Amino acid sequence: MTLLLVPTLLSSLLLLPTLLLTLIALTPVPAQAQLPTGTNIGQQNNVTSLRGTWSSGSGNVVTGLQFFNPANNTFTYPTTAGMSYSFTDDFHWEQALYIYQPKADNPYCVTAQLIWQHGTYSINGSNFISLQPFKGDGMQQIASRCTKTSQSVQPYNQPELMSGFEIHLDTHYGQSAYYLKMYGFDGTPKPLMWKVYDPPQMLPTVQLKEQVRRILLFSP
Ligand SMILES: *[C@@H]1O[C@H](CO)[C@@H](O)[C@H](O)[C@H]1NC(C)=O
Ligand SMILES: *[C@@H]1O[C@H](CO)[C@@H](O)[C@H](O)[C@H]1NC(C)=O
Ligand SMILES: *[C@@H]1O[C@H](CO)[C@@H](O)[C@H](O)[C@H]1NC(C)=O
Repeated sequence: MTLLLVPTLLSSLLLLPTLLLTLIALTPVPAQAQLPTGTNIGQQNNVTSLRGTWSSGSGNVVTGLQFFNPANNTFTYPTTAGMSYSFTDDFHWEQALYIYQPKADNPYCVTAQLIWQHGTYSINGSNFISLQPFKGDGMQQIASRCTKTSQSVQPYNQPELMSGFEIHLDTHYGQSAYYLKMYGFDGTPKPLMWKVYDPPQMLPTVQLKEQVRRILLFSP
């Protein structure tokens, strides 16, 4: 029932802002991460806040509707693999990953994995970023060039912990641009990502599936 309603409610993008205002009015404000007092967002990384859409490599993977459409759970394959994260100053995040892996024993059998998630984040005093997904919204799609297995979209829910991050100003394609480098929970650096949009390009920063359920309960 919920799933059936998602397309009806969300398919018209024009309606989204109005719909969301209604939703926000109906919904208690989700618990938001608080920056501990006295904490700078990354003392040495203070050239800009995390706000914006960041994208690796040539910038073909970006968060937002062009990557994932929650109305019909559809991914759009970017032209190259890569990753993108968006952040808002009010502690919302969104992630778009397009991972492309040849199989060791048969390089022709490339596996492609698309992942989309969003939720809330917090940063603690040691610069750790904790990313919590909105339950029920995250999706992934795995496709292999060799198997005839279905490429169906499945739920995906993976909290992430970054053990640190840096933001620097550098030159990218001849323009001065910020880049963000995050470190995984074990300290492994993630590919650096350039800031491509500020304000960020994101889908609505609310729990979409849960919102639909609430509408069901509250609608006349
Ligand atoms: C960042 O920190 C350095 C060193 O503390 C300081 O000199 C600089 O003014 C700060 N920049 C911003 C934008 O806050
Ligand atoms: C999903 O919805 C979008 C926007 O309405 C549309 O362009 C796309 O073709 C749909 N995809 C599928 C598989 O229905
Ligand atoms: C920040 O979080 C990490 C991981 O949970 C933890 O190891 C670290 O001690 C925390 N630092 C502070 C100052 O809270």
